[in-house]
Amino acid sequence: MTETSSHLSFRRIFVLGFGGVGRALVRQIISARELHAKRNRLYLQIIGLADSSGVYVDFAGITDQRLGQLIETKTKTGRLGVEQIPFSTSYLVSALPAGTIIVDTSATNQTVPVLLEAGRRDWGIVLANKLPLAGELAWFDGITMVPARWETTVGAALPVIATLNTLLNSGDHVQRIEGSLSGTLGYIAAQLEAGIRFGDAVRDARQRGYTEPDPRQDLGGLDAARKALILARMLGYRLEMHDVSVESLYPSEMDGLSVDEFMHEVDRLNEPMARRATELTRAGRKLRYTALVEDGACQVALAGVDSQNKLGTIRTSDSMVVFTTRFYRDNPLAISGRGAGQEVTASGVLGDIIGLSRELGLR
Ligand SMILES: NC(=O)c1ccc[n+]([C@@H]2O[C@H](COP(=O)([O-])OP(=O)(O)OC[C@H]3O[C@@H](n4cnc5c(N)ncnc54)[C@H](OP(=O)(O)O)[C@@H]3O)[C@@H](O)[C@H]2O)c1
Repeated sequence: MTETSSHLSFRRIFVLGFGGVGRALVRQIISARELHAKRNRLYLQIIGLADSSGVYVDFAGITDQRLGQLIETKTKTGRLGVEQIPFSTSYLVSALPAGTIIVDTSATNQTVPVLLEAGRRDWGIVLANKLPLAGELAWFDGITMVPARWETTVGAALPVIATLNTLLNSGDHVQRIEGSLSGTLGYIAAQLEAGIRFGDAVRDARQRGYTEPDPRQDLGGLDAARKALILARMLGYRLEMHDVSVESLYPSEMDGLSVDEFMHEVDRLNEPMARRATELTRAGRKLRYTALVEDGACQVALAGVDSQNKLGTIRTSDSMVVFTTRFYRDNPLAISGRGAGQEVTASGVLGDIIGLSRELGLR
């Protein structure tokens, strides 16, 4: 804080999850202090952090120096430090003051009970974690009825959610949403289209760090399905995850294998996947792993897209969402670009925090 701090509004922030995105967010908040003071007369006061093992709090505001130490300790040891309190919903619910923005950068649904208290406690919510919005429909309803932002749950910092909200608020009728929502599956689909064997494409994507250590977490399509479900629910479709049609790029009998066994046996899928790629790419179609939200239904699957379709035009490791609406029918509205990465995601979360702080009022 500087000598101008008396002119600043303070907004309390509590960050759930201190992994890649959570740490990048805290670094970005610290380095943007001057910018936030100048542009918004705002000081984001981080009062607590939580990882899976516990919570670190200082209700007076954790100093930037201490935040730096916590980032360093967490990066080196995997833990926040010795002063932490075990993670407990009841503790957070009783301790967090009204007006706090809870920022969920975790990758678990254990945060849901805390988030569902937000309405009663007068907290705001910012989510990078899609599990609370793609879990039970009642969770989605509970979270989206309070002041909340979740831009980075679909396409990282790309303004997909903001655009959809603008379309919905303006009374435009969204008829269809199509998307390429997984950079990893986009990359693998492009390799298949180029005639590369499926096993080689998966090994290559894994070596480049595009997949999770267990590539089945990407190949199963569930992450893309969660994003599509969030968009569908925003359109008012009352769907649960089991209503979403999800094409997995490996058969379920391979679920029981260890990661090494799977990587060894993945070549079994070379022929069927090559056949499927050939079928789908007839007549110059491009192979994409697509999401489709239309007519009350939601699906994610490998598909061949024709030359008219914008999904065929993106760099395959990028993400794209295309809205066909009453006003954007002949030339649908498309948003595309980098749809993953911890730094860019953190920047989107920070944008949401600032937007929500302004909505809640600069106090
Ligand atoms: N990375 C991206 O490109 C990207 C893009 C868009 C959205 N997202 C979403 O952003 C979130 C964070 O991603 P990431 O890459 O930072 O993942 P990450 O590095 O795995 O971090 C996840 C964090 O959640 C913490 N956590 C687990 N259980 C918790 C609990 N009960 N309470 C509090 N924290 C808990 C973990 O704790 P430990 O450190 O103790 O394990 C870890 O710090 C995920 O939901 C992801 O889907 C990521």
